[in-house]
Amino acid sequence: MVETVLPRIIVNFKAYRESLGGKGLEIAKAAERVEKETGVSIGVAPQFVDLRMIASAVGVPVFAQHVDPLPPGAHTGAVTVEAVTDSGAIGSLLNHSERPMKLIDIEKAVEMLREKGLISVVCASDPRVGKAAADLGATAVAVEPPELIGTGVSVSRARPEVIERSVKEIRAPVYVGAGVSTSEDVRRAIELGAHGVLLASAVVKAKDPYRKLLELAEGVITAEE
Ligand code: G3P
Repeated sequence: MVETVLPRIIVNFKAYRESLGGKGLEIAKAAERVEKETGVSIGVAPQFVDLRMIASAVGVPVFAQHVDPLPPGAHTGAVTVEAVTDSGAIGSLLNHSERPMKLIDIEKAVEMLREKGLISVVCASDPRVGKAAADLGATAVAVEPPELIGTGVSVSRARPEVIERSVKEIRAPVYVGAGVSTSEDVRRAIELGAHGVLLASAVVKAKDPYRKLLELAEGVITAEE
């Protein structure tokens, strides 16, 4: 079952100053500690420049934030599946609304990741796009209404119908995200049928990322009681 390797919480570090270098490592270590203490699996998606450093320092699943569907070679600035695999990542986010991709490129990247045995978590702005992503063979789909990203107003509270529709229509494990910041947000998302949550600012910008992750993990535990 693919669900067994998919974390319940994925923290996207984006390009925040608060997640760069040593600070990113601290967040990843906090994720590892919370995973050990609660049994709730937590993945991290560090900044590219820190991918290898973080993947070799922690035991939690590490994802790239994006890959280009290109073979190794003369592609200046490209991030290849080979590079991400070599860095120790177990998969990649694709098509984040802050890093959108053409459909054909999503399809190629999903395939290239699969060939290497890596997970693809394809982001989608709504359930319809999410369904298309699952039909392309994505391991999992993350549905995030773009207007709620970074607002602290969660999809669980503001757009619960998006979660319900996603779970109904998408034939792959579903993550939901955008504004997720409390244990209650996580609990609702999972009770509505999501496999997990994809989030960024609530953890990356928290004064104490360990406490915040602990709180979010409680949401998973409560949903399953
Ligand atoms: O990839 C996660 C994301 O786009 C949601 O961001 O800051 O609203 O949790 P945030």
